[in-house]
Amino acid sequence: MVIAPKIQLNNGIHMPVIGLGTLFSQSREIEEAVKNAIDCGYRHIDTAFCYGNEKDVGRAIKAKIEEGVIRREDIFVVTKLWSTHHEPSAVVPACQQSLQNLGLSYVDLYLMHFPVGFSQYGGINDIDYVHTWKAMEPLIDKGLARSIGLSNFNSEQIERVLQVCKVKPVVNQVECNIGFNQKKLIEFCKQRDIQITAYCPLGQPNPCKKDPPFLFDDRIKAMGAKYNKSAAQVALRYLIQIGTIPIPKSVTKHRIAENINIFDFELSGDDMRVLETYHTGKRKILFHFADSKHKYYPFNIEF
Ligand SMILES: NC(=O)c1ccc[n+]([C@@H]2O[C@H](COP(=O)([O-])OP(=O)(O)OC[C@H]3O[C@@H](n4cnc5c(N)ncnc54)[C@H](OP(=O)(O)O)[C@@H]3O)[C@@H](O)[C@H]2O)c1
Repeated sequence: MVIAPKIQLNNGIHMPVIGLGTLFSQSREIEEAVKNAIDCGYRHIDTAFCYGNEKDVGRAIKAKIEEGVIRREDIFVVTKLWSTHHEPSAVVPACQQSLQNLGLSYVDLYLMHFPVGFSQYGGINDIDYVHTWKAMEPLIDKGLARSIGLSNFNSEQIERVLQVCKVKPVVNQVECNIGFNQKKLIEFCKQRDIQITAYCPLGQPNPCKKDPPFLFDDRIKAMGAKYNKSAAQVALRYLIQIGTIPIPKSVTKHRIAENINIFDFELSGDDMRVLETYHTGKRKILFHFADSKHKYYPFNIEF
């Protein structure tokens, strides 16, 4: 079993530097994956209200607590406020709903999933994410979340939140992988003591299309072979070494184990420089359903 190191967040709380992603998986499949992950040593699970799997994730965590494998305080659970709940009065009830789904009395980290708000009845609204953030802050004193953070926020949006906040975001969760390495946003956040969680850390691999290229590249496979590691392990280790917190998703038992087995080697400086050359500047996840012309759409500036 591999227990990952932890980093200290700007509020003093410690967060494991790798987690299990859960997007696109529900029911027994993700319940089993979370149980397998906990058995392998994962102590950080990433879910979201909009993934529709909080109940499955919660059942797995409860089972592992009942088995005595973990205590509640051993596991770092992250979920997210979906864009249909940006109205300030909707924020606390949304968090309470997620907690009820998860069967937990608190989450370790509650993120605003996306800066653009959606109407409950379809379409986009103009609710300012800063007001949503102010409505998230009381979650800490109410004991519903131990930390709060952002997801898919660009540097200007983070700055706006920092100007008004009483509680500072601990994390910004964004797409980050060898092909889209977020160097500038990482530096920006580092200067403000905000950690980056790296979603899509493997680039959502599609073996038929050999996409993303970095995961199927012979050079990266050969680099991995030098360390007795796979290309996926190189990709995840790269993210650790640039100071991010990858959350690879897998429902496959051997891959769940493979993905956390990255703390017994270090990529050399030369290898890191080679990996930098795979940065394309193109993100994969664009949230197309959010209007890219909306004033709060986050991906129209460089970082
Ligand atoms: N905040 C946001 O807006 C946001 C957006 C996207 C994602 N996320 C979070 O980030 C997590 C990770 O991102 P993601 O799921 O989009 O992409 P990802 O983790 O880059 O890719 C997941 C895919 O990689 C496969 N895989 C896993 N380990 C592998 C390995 N060692 N070798 C080869 N293939 C492997 C998985 O297959 P199997 O499952 O079949 O093993 C799955 O199809 C999500 O699950 C979610 O929790 C957040």
